[in-house]
Amino acid sequence: MDQSEAPVLEALRDFRRQRFTPFTPPGHKQGRGAARSTVDALGADVFGSDILAISGLDDRTSSHEVLARAQQLMAEAVDAEHAFFSTCGSSLSVKSAMLSVAGPHEELIVGRDAHKSVVSGLILSGIRPIWVEPQWDAQRHLAHPPAPESVAAAFAEHPDVRGALITSPTPYGTCADLAAHADACHRYGRPLIVDEAWGAHLPFHDRLPTWAMDAGADVCVTSVHKMGAGLEQGSVFHLRGDLIDPAVLSSRADLLGTTSPSVLIYAGLDGWRRQMVQDGTRLLGDALDLARDVRARLSDLDGVHLAGAEFVGPGRAADLDPLQIVLDISTLGVLGYRAADWIYANHRVSMHLADHRRISAQLTFADDESTAERLLTAVRDVVEHADQLRGGQRVEVPDPGGLRLAQAMLPRDAFFARTEQISAKQAVGRVSAEMITPYPPGIPAILPGERITEPVVRYLRTGVDAGMVCPDAVDSTVESVRVVATDEEA
Ligand SMILES: Cc1ncc(COP(=O)(O)O)c(C=O)c1O
Repeated sequence: MDQSEAPVLEALRDFRRQRFTPFTPPGHKQGRGAARSTVDALGADVFGSDILAISGLDDRTSSHEVLARAQQLMAEAVDAEHAFFSTCGSSLSVKSAMLSVAGPHEELIVGRDAHKSVVSGLILSGIRPIWVEPQWDAQRHLAHPPAPESVAAAFAEHPDVRGALITSPTPYGTCADLAAHADACHRYGRPLIVDEAWGAHLPFHDRLPTWAMDAGADVCVTSVHKMGAGLEQGSVFHLRGDLIDPAVLSSRADLLGTTSPSVLIYAGLDGWRRQMVQDGTRLLGDALDLARDVRARLSDLDGVHLAGAEFVGPGRAADLDPLQIVLDISTLGVLGYRAADWIYANHRVSMHLADHRRISAQLTFADDESTAERLLTAVRDVVEHADQLRGGQRVEVPDPGGLRLAQAMLPRDAFFARTEQISAKQAVGRVSAEMITPYPPGIPAILPGERITEPVVRYLRTGVDAGMVCPDAVDSTVESVRVVATDEEA
């Protein structure tokens, strides 16, 4: 195929050039109906390019195959057999992938470090999760992706399981041995789904960790808005092999998706693919060089530990994305939450992740010397002001065993059960009816159906007092928790 084409961008340009007069949504009609102040704030082009996908971008029957062609170009560019664009983030793509592998009451192996969107998928679908443990680094309080041996053991124990879902890279940039995971799945004739939300850039440079399709995964999900240059919500999921029927995957995505997809988001995905094919090696190569330089300069700072090398090895991760710069500031005695807030307020620099002991910055090919310098200045300033920033609530993080809760009910059954909102203290021993997720990174500490323990409540309560944010809990202070009514417990 001709990778210099960008069918969505070209169709959009033609639509605008030919001055169509739509009697269709969107009702702003290329901005003519939008308030001047809104157009001024967003820019006229946003409205000009916000058109209907069918009877706008393409004709009524999609005879120009604009979207189909853009997806084929994407699939070819990354060595997949099929690519599907989604305008609702990996949150939707990952659910589509799960539903194409398992249905209600069927079993799916899932790493317990999965993102909350995966848990939402379990709740909506009624899939029964067979949890596999991440590889915990107890000393550093960090979860790396599960070991392939754990997935193989889960297949051996659960002969009816339909497949496995692994998250790689994690939001901290650590990667699973995906080839070994794919082998484990394929030995049982089952598909591997990879939640590669943080890995949209991986196919486009050989100094980056292995891309899921190259490692033999069957379906993988990417958020192009995260490490790529797509607009927010732009996601692509990719398919290879014959373990998942593309028609099934497409119909499961259709079940969840909008009937009014944003052409702006499609256009962002189309443009990103062309940019990466034409220039990805140079752009990502420059980003990797910049990351190497930033890493070297950060590792010279007293009290700041540039995390990374210790993440990779036996019993830990298989690889690391060097564009995720993770700084452990625990020896400074400063909470990550506090450092991130201070950097935001004093340097107008927003950090990616903050937890009780780390802050992290994601670099992409959009960064350069000047943005890197701002990051370095901000981190140096944290070191210089450490005396002022110390203190705050100590977060009581349980050991890995203490963090794992027993699954007493299916996530779906607990979520839809009759519930009570009771104090966190009273909730100990009860079954949670809600997800409680420190965000970012978005890995739920408590899932619906899990039996709540005192160490996990203490972790969340001390976490919130220290600056942790749990936006999905009914009571985001976690002073009270939504639990399953006693007579509904399984
Ligand atoms: C591992 C993982 N999967 C899925 C998602 C959902 O992605 P999106 O924000 O594109 O919906 C996220 C978001 O942070 C994530 O970290």
